[in-house]
Amino acid sequence: MSPGLGIPAGRPLAAASVRVLIAALAAVVIASACSAPAPPDAMHNAANRTPPGSGTIDSSVVPPDSAIPHDSLGASMRRGLALLAHTGDSLPGYVGANLRCLSCHLDGGRRPLFSLVGAFVRYPRFVERSGAVATIEDRINFCFTRSLTGRVLPAGSREMHDMVSYFAFLSSNVPPGAHVRGEGTPQIATLTGDSARGAALYGAQCARCHAADGAGTVVAPAVWGPRSFSIAAGMAREQRLASFIRYAMPFDRPGTLSDQDAYDLAAFVMSHPRPDLPAKSRDWPAGGAPRDVPYATTGHQAYHPPPLIPRTGDTLDMIVPLPAVLPASPAKH
Ligand code: HEC
Ligand code: HEC
Repeated sequence: MSPGLGIPAGRPLAAASVRVLIAALAAVVIASACSAPAPPDAMHNAANRTPPGSGTIDSSVVPPDSAIPHDSLGASMRRGLALLAHTGDSLPGYVGANLRCLSCHLDGGRRPLFSLVGAFVRYPRFVERSGAVATIEDRINFCFTRSLTGRVLPAGSREMHDMVSYFAFLSSNVPPGAHVRGEGTPQIATLTGDSARGAALYGAQCARCHAADGAGTVVAPAVWGPRSFSIAAGMAREQRLASFIRYAMPFDRPGTLSDQDAYDLAAFVMSHPRPDLPAKSRDWPAGGAPRDVPYATTGHQAYHPPPLIPRTGDTLDMIVPLPAVLPASPAKH
């Protein structure tokens, strides 16, 4: 561990963390009041996801990319970064959208919003959405299949290893269990968007880069339509999308929109057709889907569902498989 982080291993829970824990537990109890009792995993994760801003580490602990070593591991890290930046060109069979990983994970994953700093040490973790423990490879594949409207990249491929290597670099100096400023979605009030107001704002503020028909231009990717993120992407949730727009867009003038503007834009963007994801109704198998999930799941009604564009081809490889339980097998000799 590098000096100066001030996070001794095994630090006892500070009073503030206990308050966060209690607040998180209360939130889980309220959210699940009408459904089945929250599984203990959900409580554990809620407590783990300290809101951005109260993180203990700043992403500046990560050395610049120029510090990537000049050896075989360093070469893998550089290839990983190149894959995040040129995902569709490098892996055309695995990407359906005209997005790249860095379309949402800005500044090479370092921008404090959906930040990838520390992601490597946050896995494996239990993911409520799939009701299972996910490895970092599974998590990357959730973004391939859902955010890039693509297909599952084999976990044993060199390309997957390269991306994981770069994520390991981005977690340099982040001790396991530490929270990093900017992980997750920046907090934003819960408001309701007005898509008619959003349409006018989109024309004035967004169409010059993302095109009037939402399909994107040479300078920016699609925000709706067949080449956009799928309905089951995290970005398709109104609050996440509003937070991203509020803090990251317009790309050349971020932070100039109000919370309400951001919700109106999110509502407008999400009123258009976007690609489907097979088996999405199996998400949150134990219930407890957040309010703004735009499709129906156990105990949850679709929030403002957009028109769907069917996916073509083999649908099985659009679904990240749950961990398989091996059958009892005879001893090997
Ligand atoms: C359409 C936007 C979008 C694109 C494109 C995208 N992601 Fe994501 N990604 C997200 C969102 C949203 C989250 C969840 C952030 C949160 O927890 O609030 C996320 C989370 C992640 C996480 C987990 C972070 C953590 O700390 O738990 C990883 C790893 C990740 N993405 C990798 C990738 C990779 C690799 C690609 C390209 C193959 C990619 N993403 C493309 C939106 C996107
Ligand atoms: C100056 C050009 C520009 C403007 C104006 C702009 N964006 Fe973007 N936007 C970008 C770029 C570039 C990216 C992707 C960043 C990258 O790939 O490095 C992006 C990414 C996005 C994304 C995530 C990726 C995707 O396409 O789904 C969303 C959502 C988005 N912008 C919405 C908006 C909205 C809403 C507005 C209007 C408030 C807006 N943008 C204005 C350039 C722009």
